[in-house]
Amino acid sequence: MAPKPIIITLDGWSSCGKSTLAKALAKELGYVFVDSGAMYRAVTLYMLRSGVDITDEQQVQQALSQIELGFAFNPARGASDIMLNGENVESLIRELKVAEQVSKVAALATVRKFAVQQQQRLGAAKGIVMDGRDIGTVVFPQAELKIFMTADPETRVLRRYRELAATDPGISMEAVRENLALRDHMDAHREESPLRQAPDAKVLDNTHLTPEQQFTLALGWAKEAIG
Ligand code: DC
Repeated sequence: MAPKPIIITLDGWSSCGKSTLAKALAKELGYVFVDSGAMYRAVTLYMLRSGVDITDEQQVQQALSQIELGFAFNPARGASDIMLNGENVESLIRELKVAEQVSKVAALATVRKFAVQQQQRLGAAKGIVMDGRDIGTVVFPQAELKIFMTADPETRVLRRYRELAATDPGISMEAVRENLALRDHMDAHREESPLRQAPDAKVLDNTHLTPEQQFTLALGWAKEAIG
């Protein structure tokens, strides 16, 4: 009999490589991969484009009622691209102007409720790897395997800088450092579902690990959890 599918959650700080690991695990296990941060980023893009005042609860509610999020598999990436009202916004949501606003948008209770409901629906059939900040604590507290990822802040700055500089050569290391520090602070100190390590999470500090080493470690945990 085929083993029962499980839920794997990967939470942790920005730019720890959560999505890369989640994607690789999902591929190996034949599971669905969901990048929950992309959902908050797509909502932020919508708010920026439509000039929504995010301090106005009514405007935020109204905007959310106009947003349809979806995913479309992109074979070139081996993962799903996020769709905002039918438009593929996977690249646009990675831009710094979205990154600069997303923590504020993700701190709003209404926005979190909107995203969490969709995330829980996506995981209803299990067989899913989802990465984010509150996936093991709020979205799927019953997940069979929870991983909490961390890495030294300067290592994360460098990784993020290299990633952004590939498409934006004008970007400065200082701008990336500031943005990351701000996001870390906001993610960990917001009132709604702050970034927390679930008590039953396995900690993965990848500062000194190669992508292959961390994959082997996480895959071992996954196999153990699947049984
Ligand atoms: O993982 P990321 O950098 O793409 O996430 C973008 C932002 O969304 C980040 O500031 C934290 C927030 N986020 C969140 O609050 N909860 C999640 N489950 C995922 C992301």
